[in-house]
Amino acid sequence: MPFKNLVLAIAAVAVITPVFAQIADFPADTVAGIPANYTEALVGSYSLPEILVDRQGKPVTSAAAWFDHRRAEIVSLFEEYQFGKSPAAPAHIRYEVHESGAPEFDDLGKRTQLTLFFAEAADEPKMDVVFYVPAGAEGPVPLLLYIGFTPNSLVTGDPGVKKGYYWNREHEKVPVGDRKRFDKLEVPAFLARGFGVATVYYGDIEPDFQGGARHGIRNLFPATGKPDEWGSFAAWSYGLSRILDYFEEEPAVDAGRVAIAGISRLGKTVLWAGALDTRFAMVIPMCSGESGAALSRRNYGETIAHITEKTRFPYWFAPKYQEYGSDVSALPVDAHMLLSLIAPRPLLLTTGNTDKWSDPYGEFLAAVAAGPVYQMLGKEGLDTDKMPPAGEAILKDIGYFMHDGGHGTVPQDWEIVLDFMAQHFL
Ligand code: GCU
Repeated sequence: MPFKNLVLAIAAVAVITPVFAQIADFPADTVAGIPANYTEALVGSYSLPEILVDRQGKPVTSAAAWFDHRRAEIVSLFEEYQFGKSPAAPAHIRYEVHESGAPEFDDLGKRTQLTLFFAEAADEPKMDVVFYVPAGAEGPVPLLLYIGFTPNSLVTGDPGVKKGYYWNREHEKVPVGDRKRFDKLEVPAFLARGFGVATVYYGDIEPDFQGGARHGIRNLFPATGKPDEWGSFAAWSYGLSRILDYFEEEPAVDAGRVAIAGISRLGKTVLWAGALDTRFAMVIPMCSGESGAALSRRNYGETIAHITEKTRFPYWFAPKYQEYGSDVSALPVDAHMLLSLIAPRPLLLTTGNTDKWSDPYGEFLAAVAAGPVYQMLGKEGLDTDKMPPAGEAILKDIGYFMHDGGHGTVPQDWEIVLDFMAQHFL
């Protein structure tokens, strides 16, 4: 669209939708043949499923009732309709530690590298994990576990880290070679604040393409062919839980204070991982958007129809989820319920004001709607329904921070992450 028309379109909708000046309306676009709305006034009306009313229609008014049955009901709904059902945790995990406590980053930290295997007998698939703890730490430290888009050597930029392999666009597993670093994690910033930090490449758990399941951990379990068969998010989450199994055996790390973070599709992953595995003490989905922290019932940016469209990402989900692309109001869950499953643990959402595809306001509204569960459990939700402007964080037991910019992270997001970890872990 020519720039002049764009300006006119924005001006026209600004008159009817003075909702949030920091998220300017935008003309519609089409993704996979499906139009996407970026105009607040065209979102439509919807009503969210009640979190605090159980399947028998009884109000849930106490922490006891929440933990006794309502929370489990919501988990089952997400398994049935959205993510699919994961297998139980293995009785034992097999791993090999290749390096332990090597000094790194000008002696600021100590690095450990290991490989975790998913099967007792087979050596594939396997995932490489690297973690660092502050050099001077006397006891076990709280740690951020980051699930990244690239092998650990690229995420950390540390030449001492095993180079690893990645899945290329042709769906082949190839050596990292001299591929450039991106998806950058500032390890020294964590060490300087007294935190450990770990990373894993999601492609080690299972590659991210239609049919990728046969190269990853889902290949180790018999396929059910059922509507609630687990999808990639459940597979990646399963991998994260196995790393936590390892940390429970690792004296340098306090397994009771492990936060998980991921960006975008990996933000959706950490939400489901944290919902299923309550041992994760903090959850940080960054720009997780549709089917993550953003309300699916809002017709804004990506929708279930877009995400499950057959040329895009249907394999991320339980097959049943696709049915709701054409009728989201029939879906018994929505993002506010996913967020409520993290309660009472600290939850930090980061978004970007120009990342309209991920619907930052839809994430804020989901966090507001999850607030009553936090309150019922004696914690603080956002405690406001007024969205903060870009650059201004709300940090309670639920945190929300929208940076000035687009999809992904900016340095300020990581400062907020460190502050949030310090607030709750130190
Ligand atoms: C696509 C997809 C999003 C996803 C994103 C990402 O844009 O539509 O749902 O979050 O990829 O992972 O980068």
